[in-house]
Amino acid sequence: MTSTIDVVTDRALKARHRAMWGLGDYPAVAIDVIPELGPELVAASRVRPGDRVLDVAAGTGNAAVPAALTGARVVASDLTPELFDAGREFAARHGVRVDFEEGDAEALPYDDGEFDAVLSCVGVMFAPHHQQAADELIRVCRPGGTIGLLSWTPTGFVGEMFRTMKPYAPPPPPGAQPPPLWGDEEHVRMLLADRVTDVVTRRQTLTTELFATPEAWLAYWKTVYGPAIAVYRGIADDPERVAALDRDLIALAMRFDHGTHSTVMDWEYLIVTARKRS
Ligand SMILES: C[S@@+](CC[C@H](N)C(=O)[O-])C[C@H]1O[C@@H](n2cnc3c(N)ncnc32)[C@H](O)[C@@H]1O
Repeated sequence: MTSTIDVVTDRALKARHRAMWGLGDYPAVAIDVIPELGPELVAASRVRPGDRVLDVAAGTGNAAVPAALTGARVVASDLTPELFDAGREFAARHGVRVDFEEGDAEALPYDDGEFDAVLSCVGVMFAPHHQQAADELIRVCRPGGTIGLLSWTPTGFVGEMFRTMKPYAPPPPPGAQPPPLWGDEEHVRMLLADRVTDVVTRRQTLTTELFATPEAWLAYWKTVYGPAIAVYRGIADDPERVAALDRDLIALAMRFDHGTHSTVMDWEYLIVTARKRS
């Protein structure tokens, strides 16, 4: 049974996560850096006109909007409603309707089997209790419906970025699991287990060519990306640690940079699609 202390602790953790994703300018990241990921996930998940689709941890609707463009009826659910105005503008610019609704991926406010497809684009991976979140994805999907997930891999650039920031961040609370584990195929298969069939996995890369240098990437990232901003805020009173984290992140970007005249990096992700067992 869940104790009152567990509920209070979990609420406080989710409030911190919500505040973190509200920092900086996540809508800019979605539009400038990773806009191709939502359409990739929607195509891989074979969303069809008329489908009822749930985009979990949808942010500003990176997957929800392309899903709606196929003719699906789409709900975009996220812990951080501060992102919804930007999401509604994004949907309006594309001339589609998406219903943005607040919700925790670990306790989705929907009935069993409500959706034909349940998607999450670099989203559910940030819910701290992986099994609980996976159980919810499966619960709200109808039997025979599709689960489609796109997650950064542990050894790709974003996974390595989280590993690099870890020593500079407070220890995660007990029971919280690292986000990039959702980019490990075996981990996802274990989470979904025998409740799904037809599991298909594919590793791909997103090529970013937006930044002139690794230093330019870091300057941008420290301004827009909530998890990085939160880590820097935690060490702000220690200039040596700030400088060390700067050095470590720039070294990481240099390791991934294969550009000649400007920085070009390939950021690896895993797409998993599966069918909920009937
Ligand atoms: C990297 S963003 C991805 C957003 C969007 N899917 C995209 O592709 O741009 C991660 C999102 O996960 C959301 N998130 C984090 N923890 C969550 C939770 N427990 N439940 C629901 N959403 C959560 C954040 O608010 C944020 O919008």
